Amino acid sequence: MELGLWGDLMLIAPITANTLSKLASGACDNFLLATFLSAKCPVMLAPAMDLDMYSNSATQDNLDVLKKRGITVLDSPSGELASGLCGKGRMEEPEEIANAIEDFFTSNKPLTGRKALVTAGPTYENIDPVRFIGNYSSGKMGFAIAEALSNQGAQVTLVSGPSALQNTNPDIKLIKVTSALEMMEACENAFPTVNITVMAAAVSDYRPRVTADSKIKREKKGAFSIDLIPNPDIIKTLGSAKTDSQYLLGFALETNNAEENAKKKIISKNLDAIVLNSLKEKGAGFGVDTNKISIIDSDNKITRFELKSKADVASDIVDFIITRTSK
Ligand code: CTP
Repeated sequence: MELGLWGDLMLIAPITANTLSKLASGACDNFLLATFLSAKCPVMLAPAMDLDMYSNSATQDNLDVLKKRGITVLDSPSGELASGLCGKGRMEEPEEIANAIEDFFTSNKPLTGRKALVTAGPTYENIDPVRFIGNYSSGKMGFAIAEALSNQGAQVTLVSGPSALQNTNPDIKLIKVTSALEMMEACENAFPTVNITVMAAAVSDYRPRVTADSKIKREKKGAFSIDLIPNPDIIKTLGSAKTDSQYLLGFALETNNAEENAKKKIISKNLDAIVLNSLKEKGAGFGVDTNKISIIDSDNKITRFELKSKADVASDIVDFIITRTSK
């Protein structure tokens, strides 16, 4: 019974004429039938039997009853049967069954057919060949959002600064970058064709005016300073190019006047919403596996969430995006 509650899809392949009739009548005299009766998930059947059994009106009536109850019945193609006869009743080819399962999972997701761009991690701005300006971002939040968007059917491009995380999802296209300028270029290339953009990267606002070709030697005495120039504001650049059909979500990590500052960023960067995480919250922010967020809409409505794992926070963010982008 637990299996019926646990599964995302129940497939019976092959299913005989006898088992079909039991499913149609609601019989429960074996393990398979008990699992079927308790299943909360969709059910798919691949009938296989001799041609006369298949064409018999009792079998056809049973198939009709089951289809009317929302059960998917795969085709039983014509061909050579176990009895040696030739006709309709063979089990569908395994490749076709696998395709039907894939179609089922991809066509039932709310973000199927949508493209998403996600940024993650820190950026490193090189000072010389061995030193850089960076920050403590691990990339965990951005990677979790990319995963959650992909789980809901979106085709995801993930642009990540240096991060120890690996992408194991073949449906996510990972573009690795180092500096803010590289991140900017990757985002500008991807942005025109995406529907949803989530900017979770902690981008360095400044970079050294000059990157030294060789290691800078220690000065004998006195202070040392690095001349910094501003990096482009990537999200602001995308915000100004945004069309009505594109949804742009930013992140704000604030230490003071968090909500006020986050609201200002929605306007100044032309965002649809902003995820606010305050460094003052225990268990939120860089490096840790948990986060506590609020999401502020462009109409200043605030949705607050509990402290959760970053994977669960990512699901909340993606659910929020789905409600705001589905018409
Ligand atoms: N961001 C960006 N490019 C930058 C800086 C930030 O795309 N050069 C994005 C971040 O990914 C995030 C949002 O802008 O989604 C806000 O980042 P934050 O560092 O909080 O904002 P800043 O504009 O840099 O403001 P400040 O550092 O002054 O708080």
